[in-house]
Amino acid sequence: MYRSHNCGELNASNINTEVTLAGWVQKSRDKGFMNWVDLRDRYGITQLIFDESRTDKTVFELAKTLGREFVIQVKGTVIEREAKNKNIPTGEIEILVSELTILNTALTPPFTIEDETDGGEDIRMKYRYLDIRRNPVKNSLLFRHKVAMEVRKYLSDLDFCEVETPYLIKSTPEGARDFVVPSRMNEGQFYALPQSPQTFKQLLMVGGMDKYFQIVKCFRDEDLRADRQPEFTQIDCEMAFVEQEDILNIFEGLTRHLLKEIKGIEVDKFPRITYDYAMKTYGNDKPDIRFGMKFGELNEFAQHKEFPVFNAAELVVGIAVPGAGNYTRKEIDGLIDWVKRPQVGASGMVYIKCNEDGTFKSSVDKFYDNDDLANWAKATEANPGDMIFVLSGPANKTRAQLSALRMELATRLGLRNPEEFAPLWVVDFPLLELDEESGRYHAMHHPFTSPKPEDMALLETEPGKVRANAYDMVLNGNEIGGGSIRIHDKATQQLMFKYLGFTEEEAKAQFGFLMDAFQFGAPPHGGLAFGLDRLVAILGGQETIRDFIAFPKNNSGRDVMIDAPAAIDEAQLKELHIKIDLV
Ligand code: AMO
Repeated sequence: MYRSHNCGELNASNINTEVTLAGWVQKSRDKGFMNWVDLRDRYGITQLIFDESRTDKTVFELAKTLGREFVIQVKGTVIEREAKNKNIPTGEIEILVSELTILNTALTPPFTIEDETDGGEDIRMKYRYLDIRRNPVKNSLLFRHKVAMEVRKYLSDLDFCEVETPYLIKSTPEGARDFVVPSRMNEGQFYALPQSPQTFKQLLMVGGMDKYFQIVKCFRDEDLRADRQPEFTQIDCEMAFVEQEDILNIFEGLTRHLLKEIKGIEVDKFPRITYDYAMKTYGNDKPDIRFGMKFGELNEFAQHKEFPVFNAAELVVGIAVPGAGNYTRKEIDGLIDWVKRPQVGASGMVYIKCNEDGTFKSSVDKFYDNDDLANWAKATEANPGDMIFVLSGPANKTRAQLSALRMELATRLGLRNPEEFAPLWVVDFPLLELDEESGRYHAMHHPFTSPKPEDMALLETEPGKVRANAYDMVLNGNEIGGGSIRIHDKATQQLMFKYLGFTEEEAKAQFGFLMDAFQFGAPPHGGLAFGLDRLVAILGGQETIRDFIAFPKNNSGRDVMIDAPAAIDEAQLKELHIKIDLV
C-alpha cells in the first residue's frame, strides 16, 4: 500500500493515528534541529515534521537531502501542530515522520509550482505536466470533469445514449478547413478528421437511436483565438421526432441544471431573441446581455441636417454609456483612437455628453440643437450623466465596430462580472450567407440545416432573406452552442446543395451516403452541439479555454511540449505515397 490517506484529508480527528502518505515535496524549511516539509498531492498539502530529538537519525539526515518536487513516501504519526494554519484543511495537524523513502528525485523545476508562479506562458506550456501540479490548472481540469459528469448524468437520465462515431472520416463542412490523414492502404487518398460528427449523428437518427449524445473531439484547421483550439470538445446531441421548441427546452434544461449544480445559480427561462434583433440591438449574434448599452439607430434624427458625414452614411447608430458623462477630453480622445485602430476600423466617433440639467454638449453642436440631441438620447435610452457615442458608415461594418466598443466599455466599466450568468437563445438565423469575395452563398450553419417552410419560396428570389430553423445558445457574450432542425428528405437536401453551388455530381460524391440514407425512412430530426471547453471556461469565470484543456496547443497550433507537428521520415512518407516539394 503506497498510502493510507491522501495529502488533503487528515485533520484533528486523526491525531495519534499511524499513516502512510506519498506525494511531492512542495518545499522544506530546515531549521537545523527541526525540518518541516510540505508534502503535496492532487488533494492538498500536509506538513511533515522531522525532529532531531524524536526522529530516527538516518531518517532525519535523509530528510535534509530532499529537493523540490522529489517524490517521497512517509510513514508517521498524526500530531497536533503548534502553529496552526487556518487556511488549509490539514492546517491543525502535522505528521511526525518515522520512515522516509525517496521514490524518485527531481530536477529543479523551471518555474515555481505554486498558485502564483514565476513561469511565463511558453515555459509552462513546454512543461505542462508541471503546470498541472499547480492548483489553478489542476482545479480547472477537476472542474471540467465535474461539468462533463453532470452532462452525462442529466442526458442519460433523459434516455440519451452516448454513441462514439469515427474520427477517420470524410469532410464534414462546418466552415473550417479539414485536418487530413493520408491513407497508406489507399494510395493518394485521405481521410478528414471530423469538424463535428454532424453526418454520423444524423445517420444515427435514421438508425433509430432517437436520443444521442457524445462528448467528442472535433478538429478544425482555423485561425486560433482565446476561445478556439484546433482540437476541441463538443457535447454533441441529436434527437428524432422533435421540433425546434423541443430542442430549445431540453438543452435549456441541461444548461439550467449545470448552472444550478455547478454554480448554485437559479436562472429564469432564457430570453429568446431573433438574429435580426441581436444584430440591430447589439451589433452581434452573440450578445452579452449582462449589461444594457443597447444600440439606438439615429438615421431619422441625425440625417438631413448639415452634417455631411452622417448624411452620407447608410447607418448612424449610438450607445449610451452609463455614468460616462464626466469623461475628460483625454479619455474621449483615447476612445476615439481606440475605435480608429485597424482592428476596429472606424473612421471617427461623435460624442454627446448628457448633462444633469437635461442639456447636451456634443462634438457636433455646430449641426444639431438641443432638441435634436434629446431625440438621440431617447433613441439610445440615455440618462442624465451618460455619454452617447455615435458611429456611422456601412450598416454591417458600423454595427460590428459599435459592438466592439460596447464590449470594450463594458469591460472597462466592470460590467462583465464573471460570476453573473446571462444565457439566451438567438433564433431565426439566416439560412445562407453571402461570401463577398466569391459572390457565392454558403450555409450559415451547415448545409444540413432546414429552411423555415414559410421562407422556402424566397430561395429562388431572395436567398439571403431565407431564415433557417437554426439557433445558438449564448452565455455572457460567447456562443457556447448551436444547432438546427435538419433537412430529412433527399429532394430538399439536393435542392440545398444546388443553391450552395454544388453540381449534382459533387453533391453525390461528397454526401451521397446521407441522401441515400434519407430514402430509407429518415425521421424528422434536429439537435445541437455545445462547445464543452467554452462552456467550462465560462462557468469557471474565464474566456480563455486553454487552461481548461489538459494539453492545449499554442497560438500557432503547436504542441510545444511534444513538439508537434513535426516532419516525418522519408520511409514513412514513401509508405504513404507522399512526395514533399517544399517551396
Ligand atoms: P458549431 O460549428 O456551431 O456547430 O459548433 C458547436 C459549438 O462548438 C464550439 N466550437 C469551438 N470551441 C472551441 N474551439 C473551436 N475551434 C470551436 N469551434 C466551435 C462552439 C460552438 O457553438 N454540427 C454542428 C452542431 C449541430 O448543428 O448540431 C456544429 O458543429 O461553442
